[in-house]
Amino acid sequence: MSEISFENFGHVAKKVGYRNITISSSRYNFQEKHMPSILENIKNKLKISHDDTLLDIGCGLGLFLIPLSFFCKNVVGIDHKNFINQIKIYFKFFKSKNLISGNFLKLKLKKKFDKILIYSVVHYLSSEKEFQKFVGKALILLKKKGILLVGDVPIQEYEKAFLNSKEGKKYYHQFENLKKKYKKKNFDFSIVNFLDKRMKDKNLINIDLKMLKNIEKKLKKKKFKVKILRHNKISIFGNTRVDLIIEKR
Ligand SMILES: C[S@@+](CC[C@H](N)C(=O)[O-])C[C@H]1O[C@@H](n2cnc3c(N)ncnc32)[C@H](O)[C@@H]1O
Repeated sequence: MSEISFENFGHVAKKVGYRNITISSSRYNFQEKHMPSILENIKNKLKISHDDTLLDIGCGLGLFLIPLSFFCKNVVGIDHKNFINQIKIYFKFFKSKNLISGNFLKLKLKKKFDKILIYSVVHYLSSEKEFQKFVGKALILLKKKGILLVGDVPIQEYEKAFLNSKEGKKYYHQFENLKKKYKKKNFDFSIVNFLDKRMKDKNLINIDLKMLKNIEKKLKKKKFKVKILRHNKISIFGNTRVDLIIEKR
């Protein structure tokens, strides 16, 4: 089980929190400008409507949970207690019962939802088995005709192809320079800067196309409607990631 990365996120949530929500959600500051269009994209893919109940698993500090709460009837977020406690402090209008602390894989949940979001989360799991368990458990909580979006999933082959491309090499070079510049100025650059002496999770899953196809096949066998959509180049390494849109018939 990928407890190390989950606890590392919890540590950063406490240390950085809303001081830098981009870093707390393991993004880089240069990605910030893309967040509004990503939110729009999530809303469209989940076909969000005002009658919807939505569950956001791995909601972090609520980067998507909070804005989505204005477009849905009811939203519930799940994450490490250090994220959840901060949402409770900063967003007092949010009902406490709708903020659940804990590892999703260990939680006992009963309520069902029209829409479920798992965004930028599954690559912090430890194996294909855990990935399937995570998605399977989410699907149990999905109502009939509901939609689950497993979004922002990095794909190994797409990442390799990007890093080997001319553009990828240029990006890597610029990225390293930016990192040095931030270090010199003592600016926050990435989540790694805040892990202190904490152990990095070495057993994280590597999601490749074969694994993705295998999961798609299994879901289709269970009669789910599955679409895999590659991200377009919204951000520089955007097209290394995919979204899985799963509909319950
Ligand atoms: C990269 S952040 C993404 C946060 C948010 N979904 C977003 O896109 O801004 C990954 C989040 O997944 C959470 N997470 C990872 N494994 C989890 C698990 N087993 N149960 C609940 N949350 C989990 C982490 O704590 C972290 O907040």
